[in-house]
Amino acid sequence: MSALLSTRALSKSFAGLRAVHEVDFDLEPGEIRALIGPNGAGKTTLVSMLIGRVAPTSGTIHFEGRDITRLPAHARVRLGMAYTFQITSVFARLDVAENVALAARRRLGGDRAAVARETAAVLERVGLAGHGDALAGDLSYGHQRLLELAMGLAQAPRLLILDEPTQGLAEGEIAAFRQLIRDVAADATVLLIEHNMGVVMALADRITVLDFGEVLAEGSPAGIHASAAVQAAYLGTGADA
Ligand SMILES: Nc1ncnc2c1ncn2[C@@H]1O[C@H](COP(=O)(O)OP(=O)(O)OP(=O)(O)O)[C@@H](O)[C@H]1O
Ligand SMILES: [Mg+2]
Repeated sequence: MSALLSTRALSKSFAGLRAVHEVDFDLEPGEIRALIGPNGAGKTTLVSMLIGRVAPTSGTIHFEGRDITRLPAHARVRLGMAYTFQITSVFARLDVAENVALAARRRLGGDRAAVARETAAVLERVGLAGHGDALAGDLSYGHQRLLELAMGLAQAPRLLILDEPTQGLAEGEIAAFRQLIRDVAADATVLLIEHNMGVVMALADRITVLDFGEVLAEGSPAGIHASAAVQAAYLGTGADA
């Protein structure tokens, strides 16, 4: 099997609620995959299992052919999985550069010069080069999301998972973000949870639609856009996507 990441019959129940139910999911190396679905569909729960923050009720997860179902989150980071949270999780009382340096140190260890170089390069890449000395908590919300992305990139991930990265970004910032993700995808696989359908359609090679914890549809942006089942799922919940 050539998939970078695969799940089989992956499930998570919270006190009887089937948040994710028997999901078979394969990510190919180098692709940008969008994971979409109505609120409460199970998107965050699914990626939380992928990265090791939530233990599955049943099922398996393989990364590069290796069973990681029971591997702790930090060990998955070492294998090359990085992620940003739906809720911003920067260290508000540290400055911007120190936030990125913390992430870079996970990969580069105590080599200060290398950490400083990587920190500067990553801040430049996300457009925060002028903000290194600012307290993270003083950044605008949109810039905090970009800082989170920088923290993910500092780990030089093979797989970058982003949970609603454009939420709270201004239109101009979203355009820059799209370009940045295309850039990142040149040497990493990207899994993007996203409600902004403009971003999804512009970026995704393939789209997986989750509904009530199950895969409702999977295919090209054009195919998903045309799918009656997908439209019904969204209309059924009144989501604006
Ligand atoms: N820790 C938890 N305890 C109990 N129920 C949970 C927990 N986390 C998620 N759920 C429930 O599981 C279901 C799926 O939630 P999840 O957050 O994965 O959805 P989502 O697709 O990410 O939604 P959104 O688009 O709103 O972010 C929801 O019904 C949610 O209330
Ligand atoms: Mg979510």
